[in-house]
Amino acid sequence: MHFIPEELDDYVVKHTEDEPELLQQLTRETYQKILQPRMLSGHYQGRILSMISKLVNPKNILEIGTYTGYSALCLAEGMQDNGELHTIDVNEELVDFQRKYFDKSDYASQIHQHLGSALDIIPKLNKTFDLVFIDADKDNYSKYFNLIIDKLNTGGIILSDNVLWSGKILDKTFKKDDTSTPALIAYNALLKNDTRVETVLLPIRDGLTISRKI
Ligand SMILES: C[S@@+](CC[C@H](N)C(=O)[O-])C[C@H]1O[C@@H](n2cnc3c(N)ncnc32)[C@H](O)[C@@H]1O
Repeated sequence: MHFIPEELDDYVVKHTEDEPELLQQLTRETYQKILQPRMLSGHYQGRILSMISKLVNPKNILEIGTYTGYSALCLAEGMQDNGELHTIDVNEELVDFQRKYFDKSDYASQIHQHLGSALDIIPKLNKTFDLVFIDADKDNYSKYFNLIIDKLNTGGIILSDNVLWSGKILDKTFKKDDTSTPALIAYNALLKNDTRVETVLLPIRDGLTISRKI
């Protein structure tokens, strides 16, 4: 969902850095071969992730929700030369696709894939991180936050995607079987109230929150 008029949105994208060729290829192949291609971050959000990563210049990055690897490659653009990016996804059918594109990038040896539920994998990662991107199942966002906060270095950044959930976070009458909307409402409140982080919610695309560990 776009929260600004299409014409203005086109202008915004047009005046943003171009999408690297490798990511254009990845997007094309995702749309040809993989279910739910709209899950991919895409050109504009990808450039924002790249820019934030370059500003943070992280040594270690953690991504929760790899999908076909688009956002991982964007985040890797800002990583230090001796840095590592750890990315987790539960869908084993995506592993070879991700690896193919990671291997074509400049960061092949620095990107580490983890297959399984992030709830199981994060506690086993014996590392601290400077940048974390949360972009997996919405129901578990608060659990992910609680699992990573002690692994986040002071000054480290958590980026959380889809926090506006197409505007549904304003809807008090969500369906009974919709567990994601209340989970995101609770997550947004958690970020706002947790004194270990300072938080700004940006109305970019489907909502992207930046939280910085104090
Ligand atoms: C929105 S997509 C990620 C998009 C990707 N970050 C990008 O921008 O290109 C969400 C991904 O989270 C994964 N996922 C869902 N539940 C998960 C879990 N419990 N642990 C790890 N990954 C999960 C899905 O398999 C899916 O690939």
